[in-house]
Amino acid sequence: MAKATKTFVCQNCGAAYTRWQGRCDSCGEWNTIIEEVGKSEALPKGVSGGKGGRKIEFVDLKGAVSQVPRRLTGIGELDRVFGGGLVAGSAILVGGDPGIGKSTVLLQAMGALAKRGAACVYITGEESVDQVRLRAGRLDLRDAPVQLAAATNVRDVVASLDAGPIRDVVVIDSIQTMYADTIDSAPGTVTQVRTAAHELIRIAKHRGFTLFLVGHVTKEGTLAGPRVLEHMVDTVLYFEGDRGHQFRILRAVKNRFGATDEIGVFAMTDTGLSEVANPSALFLAERRGNVSGSCVFAGLEGSRPVLVEIQALVAPSVLGTPRRAAVGWDSGRLNMIIAVLETRCGLALGGHDIYLNVAGGLRINEPAADLAVATALVSSLSGEPVPADAVVFGEIGLSGEVRAVAQRDLRLKEAAKLGFRRAWVPRQSAKNGAKGAPEPATTKDGLSVRGIGHVQDVVMQFAEAKPRAKAAPAQAPGVGRAARPASDETGD
Ligand code: TYD
Ligand code: MG
Repeated sequence: MAKATKTFVCQNCGAAYTRWQGRCDSCGEWNTIIEEVGKSEALPKGVSGGKGGRKIEFVDLKGAVSQVPRRLTGIGELDRVFGGGLVAGSAILVGGDPGIGKSTVLLQAMGALAKRGAACVYITGEESVDQVRLRAGRLDLRDAPVQLAAATNVRDVVASLDAGPIRDVVVIDSIQTMYADTIDSAPGTVTQVRTAAHELIRIAKHRGFTLFLVGHVTKEGTLAGPRVLEHMVDTVLYFEGDRGHQFRILRAVKNRFGATDEIGVFAMTDTGLSEVANPSALFLAERRGNVSGSCVFAGLEGSRPVLVEIQALVAPSVLGTPRRAAVGWDSGRLNMIIAVLETRCGLALGGHDIYLNVAGGLRINEPAADLAVATALVSSLSGEPVPADAVVFGEIGLSGEVRAVAQRDLRLKEAAKLGFRRAWVPRQSAKNGAKGAPEPATTKDGLSVRGIGHVQDVVMQFAEAKPRAKAAPAQAPGVGRAARPASDETGD
């Protein structure tokens, strides 16, 4: 039945081959296939014939469901990302760059849970017991009744967790260091990671504890090891942030027990990670008013509005092919907005280097930031600052039209709360009732809302504000000369 075979396994997607090949047919990656010696996973002959299996019982969808009990860590930002607490018997994969703080956040979570009476186990395969104790000392968690062990053999780990008292939460730091001694491949290979995770998840379901698996990420930023790991677990969290910045963001990308795209915001301090209850204030803390190329975007992260500063620098290029760089924002999307500004608004950006940065190390995935990016670009090109008390959001289509985005009121409310007085928003959603209602309108919070129908409106705003007559020749065909559609007239 199960016999040791040589297989060639893609380290990216887990596809298996009988021969080595340069490119994986399944995921298209190059040089990811390596030889692994493992047990054949095929079912014994006869199973497919349906002999000897137990009959499974089928039920319908409307039966009673038991409410899953949730265990709160007491760390608000963590509980938010978990979707309202930990579910017993679930498996959570935590990925992130090395040194970003995965071990720290999990040790803090274990400490908090243990202090609330949960039986917590922390198994480290990367560090020694002393190293973890030192960290616990720094985090002021020495008194927390967390059980600690250094182990890497899955057989030992499973045996220890299967016997003994009931555990509530178990952390495995990290899954790449675990190895199953039944398999000859080195730890960290697809077969090892898959087998180790499978065994650990099985015991978690069997014994009913919550399992945390720490996973490494590759250079490309995806979880190292097979994609299948993401399918095996119930929740996948990414811990992101720039090591140069203090802020760390825990983001749920898959959650069977809650909403995805929910984020928890933390700040790394010398005594560990501390919660950031008001991320907008933090992301805007270092903002300076009256600088061209800076625009505040009212974004949405999960269910929560977050205000961030988007910075653009548009400078004449000395290179044949101008540079385009974006940090915290998709560079393909940046190119699209540049193309729209050039084609639909007549801006000449071809001879300019363009840099875009989302301040604070946050990564924005929402298309709703388009209008804020365009505003920052136009502001930088014209040298004219965006009003310091304005927030901007809206999606831009390829013809330059500004499209409505979700949760407008939530975004506006957050902006008003943080003291902003104006908002530039998509025009359709700015209408309140009457067709073509006069703008700007004012919200209950005293925010003056201006509807933008086309990016051209923003371009004209900067052109009218102060045409830069003294602009260098390279900038001459810039904002001031923008072709203006005959019909589009919006006063502010
Ligand atoms: P760590 O949790 O070890 O990262 P990972 O497990 O993701 O590899 O985080 C280590 C980093 O965090 C390290 O660069 C030091 C920093 N750190 C602090 O700044 N303050 C602290 O209190 C702790 C424990 C770590
Ligand atoms: Mg670690």
